[in-house]
Amino acid sequence: MRVKKILAAGLVLCLSLQLLCACGRTQKVLTNKVHVGVTYYDQSDTFLGELLASFKEQLNACESGDLETAVMIRDAGGSQKTQNDQVKELIDAGCNVLCVNMVDRSDPSDIIDLAREHDVPIIFFNREPVAEDMMQWDKLYYVGADARQSGVMQGELAADLIKQNSQIDRNKDGKIQYVVLEGEPGHQDAIIRTETAVEALRNNGIKLEKLGYQIANWNRAQAQNRMEQMISQYQNQIELVLANNDDMALGAIDAYKKLNYTDATLPVFFGIDGTDVGLEAVADSLLSGTVYNDKEGQAGAMVKLAVALVTGYGMDQIEFKNERYIYLSYFKVDKDNVGELYEDK
Ligand code: GAL
Ligand code: CA
Repeated sequence: MRVKKILAAGLVLCLSLQLLCACGRTQKVLTNKVHVGVTYYDQSDTFLGELLASFKEQLNACESGDLETAVMIRDAGGSQKTQNDQVKELIDAGCNVLCVNMVDRSDPSDIIDLAREHDVPIIFFNREPVAEDMMQWDKLYYVGADARQSGVMQGELAADLIKQNSQIDRNKDGKIQYVVLEGEPGHQDAIIRTETAVEALRNNGIKLEKLGYQIANWNRAQAQNRMEQMISQYQNQIELVLANNDDMALGAIDAYKKLNYTDATLPVFFGIDGTDVGLEAVADSLLSGTVYNDKEGQAGAMVKLAVALVTGYGMDQIEFKNERYIYLSYFKVDKDNVGELYEDK
């Protein structure tokens, strides 16, 4: 299996960095050693594992005669206290820029204080601190994506399929009975994705009936378990499963498989992320669609920003929203375009 996009993204980044070095010679170089310290909330997260693999690859790819890079990555294992300690350790080890994926996105003050004391800028990613916290210091940045856009796209994908295929309304009552699998409570992507997906379905003329929802914290095994509960409660009534990410959509599919459901009695499933396993499931027609969370773009933006912050080159070439934010666009993936992103080996 190969994900085609990664290479393309890496190439673009290197070219732009070479250009940047060529034309900025008269500028003062702060230092040409970019030592990045990364800490992320939990290593069991599929999407973040893939994002960080791309980050390492792209950081490595921009090494040149002039530029030296190194990265240290720490898994916070779901503990904010551990993550605070890791930030201290990374700064003590000489990291001159930090990439932080908060465990508890509402609690970044200790980390910000530590970084400010040592004048080490922070690029937060994927788990967005609230706006007031981002104002605590002027060397704080955020790289991520707009949750609302992913929800709308998921809803539109589902609405298109429902309009094309009258079999999805299995009991022929003119309504689609649906359930939702939600990500972590308090995460900027969880509730907004659900709300906007449902709103987009309605705006596209689909009549809906919500049967239930469960929280499964982005996790495949938890989603399987929660889905088994909902199947035992609603039996054959469920026609659509909206999941806040691909891993939870796949967990829902696992639940039906375990209970030996046949294709004709399955609901349709939609995810978000376009992880390797998610794309594979779309290619295999298990997952009807997903929304690509541009991890290569996000990782590339983090690399570019880290290099610019440390070297002093290239900040003027980065496009920010509200001076500190970089949001990469999502895009829709279904069986018609999945081949552009994914191919079987
Ligand atoms: C979301 C992503 C999830 C999970 C979460 C972690 O953006 O869709 O799969 O990775 O971030 O914060
Ligand atoms: Ca129905």
